[in-house]
Amino acid sequence: MKTLIFYSSPNKNGNTYKLMNEFIKGLGKEAEILEVFKANIKPCIDCKYCYKLEACSIKDDMTEIYKKINDSDLIVIATPMYFASVPGPLKNLIDRLQVYWSKKYIREDRDDIRIKKGVSIITGGTYWEEMFKPIDETLKLAFGAMDAKIEGELRAINTDENPVEKDEEILKAAYSLGEKFR
Ligand SMILES: Cc1cc2nc3c(=O)[nH]c(=O)nc-3n(C[C@H](O)[C@H](O)[C@H](O)COP(=O)(O)O)c2cc1C
Repeated sequence: MKTLIFYSSPNKNGNTYKLMNEFIKGLGKEAEILEVFKANIKPCIDCKYCYKLEACSIKDDMTEIYKKINDSDLIVIATPMYFASVPGPLKNLIDRLQVYWSKKYIREDRDDIRIKKGVSIITGGTYWEEMFKPIDETLKLAFGAMDAKIEGELRAINTDENPVEKDEEILKAAYSLGEKFR
């Protein structure tokens, strides 16, 4: 099973990183980590090139990322919450998934669709009721575009006061979530 992780925090050893690491330990096998903040991913410009072809007119790191997505069996999005949503570089990546959306809904081409599994790991510094609702909706559409069925979700709250390294329970939950996909 090929695992592709979109790691979307600028912090090398922060909350999201630690949960992702526990997840990988639980998974017990190799996973490719794509550092979204380091990738060159320009925003979608709605040029509609992908209405005609299964490709994007913008040539940047997404060219390789599309191939990695197509080849994967398990896709993990590990990200902090920024203003109730995803950080900018991850939003760029998600918008560029329009290539897959256009394939299915504009060109109505359902050939070569490979069903994958999807997992999200999200950390938030604070807590309010239904705080994950907006980001969950965005990720639901992103996983849907990649034909990944969501099979696991981990949410860490209040990381400003309670960093995950001090929270045995959330670290264990991340490990167990990884084990599910061994
Ligand atoms: C630009 C920015 C926006 C943020 N917005 C939110 C937010 O809307 N809700 C929240 O709970 N935390 C918010 N946070 C806090 C982060 O989600 C939190 O600190 C997270 O655990 C950071 O993960 P990391 O250590 O992996 O980078 C924000 C942080 C930054 C830098």
